[in-house]
Amino acid sequence: MNTPFTFGKIASGMEFTNRKADILRLVNNFLSGNNTILISPRRWGKSSLVKKSAEEAVKEDKNLRFCFIDLYNIRKEEEFYQVLAQEVIKVSSAKWEERVNYTKKLISQFIPKITYTPDSISEFSLGLDWKEVKKQPEQIINIAEKLAIEKKIKIVICIDEFQNISEFENPLAFQKQLRANWQKHSNVIYCLYGSKRHMMLEVFTSSSMPFYKFGDLFFLEKISEEHWIEFITSRFKDTGKSISPEDAGFMAKLVEYHPYYVQQLAQLSWLRCLKNCGRSEVLEAHNQLIMQLSLLFQNITDSLTTTQINYLHAVLKKVEQLSSKETLSIYRLGTSANVLRIKNALISKEILDFTGVNTEFLDPAYKMWLSIHYFKLQNEPVNLI
Ligand SMILES: Nc1ncnc2c1ncn2[C@@H]1O[C@H](COP(=O)(O)OP(=O)(O)OP(=O)(O)O)[C@@H](O)[C@H]1O
Ligand SMILES: [Mg+2]
Repeated sequence: MNTPFTFGKIASGMEFTNRKADILRLVNNFLSGNNTILISPRRWGKSSLVKKSAEEAVKEDKNLRFCFIDLYNIRKEEEFYQVLAQEVIKVSSAKWEERVNYTKKLISQFIPKITYTPDSISEFSLGLDWKEVKKQPEQIINIAEKLAIEKKIKIVICIDEFQNISEFENPLAFQKQLRANWQKHSNVIYCLYGSKRHMMLEVFTSSSMPFYKFGDLFFLEKISEEHWIEFITSRFKDTGKSISPEDAGFMAKLVEYHPYYVQQLAQLSWLRCLKNCGRSEVLEAHNQLIMQLSLLFQNITDSLTTTQINYLHAVLKKVEQLSSKETLSIYRLGTSANVLRIKNALISKEILDFTGVNTEFLDPAYKMWLSIHYFKLQNEPVNLI
């Protein structure tokens, strides 16, 4: 059965809602040659937005080529050079003979192995000789600019989970090398994005770091309630079902407008009703969603220390002075120096995020599960929103 909602994969076409201003900003950056650094917590829609904006930009400038690289599984500098070279060559030319020629022309000294299947254009992979690459990595870093000039095109290199470069062996030297070369590129545009806000900020906003002021720093926001209402009600309507704007808004609010969860909750609610979806179906679906995730949430909680759990408890009880003597004692948090360690651990485990005076749970479903099922602070989700 085709359901009208999607989650866990890139949202495109009818599944993609709004973000008009965000698309405009990205498209303008692509067309005018500005680099972008896009940051948002996990599953707020970075990849979907970049893909959608790429499609729009190509409609306006046929000379643009988009190259997508995901550093999710890339832990070493050599792997980075390998995918960079491979993907850039791939997007620059659709013909395999041409790809092989470019490879020979630009980086033959590094290539002990090229694998390609002539009848399948997506299969093209390079094995680089790391010892050689290490001697002159700029040859690989500059391939995109050289190809762009030769083919009279502009290449937009989009790199997902960019913060992973901080885990390379010598991240600072690597970043210096990249920046020194990238800043000379006038036919290649970079769009770098990632979900670990603190690590991304460290790379791009510390004045001592090579990537300081590299491009337009773009913090993606969640999608607003009014756009979710429009999206959810119309997806129901298109499939012969209905939901009131109030219940659609309530649904989005229950999961704090988190794009992935809104779509998942909408899907579960849609499956539960035959024709009209009311508040009780939404609440049942929400309960089902939290229960489906409870094993995962239990595992996350088991991996935390007692003081970290106590800290989460205090946050959920909306305690404001978390380092006050009284709080330290009531919630058994140890010393105030310990509180700093707890905060840093919860940031690096991607559970909490701190922006200015705000403390936020990155996963609204986990927050709800902790409140209702773990700490038993409330028994109704409605009391929490
Ligand atoms: N514009 C949108 N309209 C509707 N749903 C969206 C939109 N953007 C994202 N979503 C929902 O959020 C989910 C996650 O989107 P996406 O994979 O683009 O996010 P991400 O920030 O790249 O995530 P990750 O951090 O896991 O890489 C999608 O599967 C979809 O359910
Ligand atoms: Mg993504």
